[in-house]
Amino acid sequence: MEHFRNPRNVGEISDADGIGNVGNPICGDIMRLYIKVKDNVITDAKFKTYGCGAAIATSSMITELVKGKTIEEALKVSNSAVAEALGGLPKIKMHCSVLAEEALKSAIDDYLKKKKK
Ligand code: FES
Repeated sequence: MEHFRNPRNVGEISDADGIGNVGNPICGDIMRLYIKVKDNVITDAKFKTYGCGAAIATSSMITELVKGKTIEEALKVSNSAVAEALGGLPKIKMHCSVLAEEALKSAIDDYLKKKKK
């Protein structure tokens, strides 16, 4: 509830190194996650989420969890780790944490693709 009422890292990063866009076609919620990377470490992360309370809370928590992590470490952050960091989620809200994990993976994927070019 605290991360829903006072979400951290809301907004966008104009010169982001990676952007992830995901959506859940069933509930219609959408999430965009931005990362800034320096020397393989995520130095900043922000998000914009149009969705339920759990989607906002998990977006907020995942941006907090990945800051300071290497790309490899960030890829290991699972939806259940996000839910656990929030003190648990009701079973019917676990899919919202999956959306946050997918948004992060999509942003990292975007970063790695851009880096290759
Ligand atoms: Fe759609 Fe939570 S109900 S992400």
